[in-house]
Amino acid sequence: MDLHLKGKKALVTGASAGLGAAVAMELAREGVTLIINSRSEERLSETAQKIEKVTSSKPKIVVADVATIDGLEKIARSITNSRGKSDIDILFSNTGGPPTGQFLNFSDEVWDESADLLLKSAYKLTRLVLNGMIERRWGRLIYLTSISVLQPVDDLILSNTYRAAVTAFCKTVSNNYAQFGITANCVCPGYTATERLTNLSKKRAEVAGTTPEEIMKDFASKAAVKRVGKPEELAALVAFLASDRAAFITGSSIAVDGGSNRALI
Ligand SMILES: NC(=O)c1ccc[n+]([C@@H]2O[C@H](COP(=O)([O-])OP(=O)(O)OC[C@H]3O[C@@H](n4cnc5c(N)ncnc54)[C@H](OP(=O)(O)O)[C@@H]3O)[C@@H](O)[C@H]2O)c1
Repeated sequence: MDLHLKGKKALVTGASAGLGAAVAMELAREGVTLIINSRSEERLSETAQKIEKVTSSKPKIVVADVATIDGLEKIARSITNSRGKSDIDILFSNTGGPPTGQFLNFSDEVWDESADLLLKSAYKLTRLVLNGMIERRWGRLIYLTSISVLQPVDDLILSNTYRAAVTAFCKTVSNNYAQFGITANCVCPGYTATERLTNLSKKRAEVAGTTPEEIMKDFASKAAVKRVGKPEELAALVAFLASDRAAFITGSSIAVDGGSNRALI
């Protein structure tokens, strides 16, 4: 589908695997010029090569941890032009997930690390790209959250807490900057087949005394469509939200969950 995104430039973080890699591939297929990020140079280079093979266009890679000041400064240097503004049109803000567990499992240190990973990375990345978007009167801010913002997941208290905060941040930014042609939305995956889900199934199997395969079946059974999602199904939504066709969608949190959320809206 041609979403008329050719000529746009995107920063996709957490892009060496899973949902971020799928989003990078989908945007590249739409002709978007990409800067992709993750912490592992090897995995990120592999993803860049896969994208180049499919689209003949090689993304620029920035190896950096978005949960750290050094990592964010490195990203800032790679996207800032000579006038001190970024020329990024589309931000897909994404990282790996925090550890699973309940409140008493986590020290203050782990709470702080998870805030850096999920919440601070989102607003600090936004700070890097927003002024350039305002100047060009066009921008797309897209934040990866989770279905946990619709209904908290019992063993994911860190995710439940900080993704709700990202949702509130996104909603406020969407209201404040709509006048500049900038939209801000959250995408909320349900259980989707990535490395993260494999790890989650192993952790839950240990706790429940069952097998990861049984846990995977349970994930699938929660969705109305009775399967887990494919990363490219979330990526298709992100590409649409990045396009002009989605100009009237802002401040929304949209689930891609196969119908696992049973609420009305
Ligand atoms: N899959 C699901 O079912 C599901 C459902 C709801 C929400 N989510 C959330 O969606 C997000 C993405 O999920 P996923 O399944 O794609 O996870 P994943 O398979 O673990 O991939 C995470 C990606 O983020 C990168 N990354 C991790 N920490 C980073 C950091 N500090 N700075 C930069 N890059 C970082 C990883 O690469 P490097 O290791 O190279 O850094 C990898 O490319 C996670 O936050 C997850 O909790 C996932």
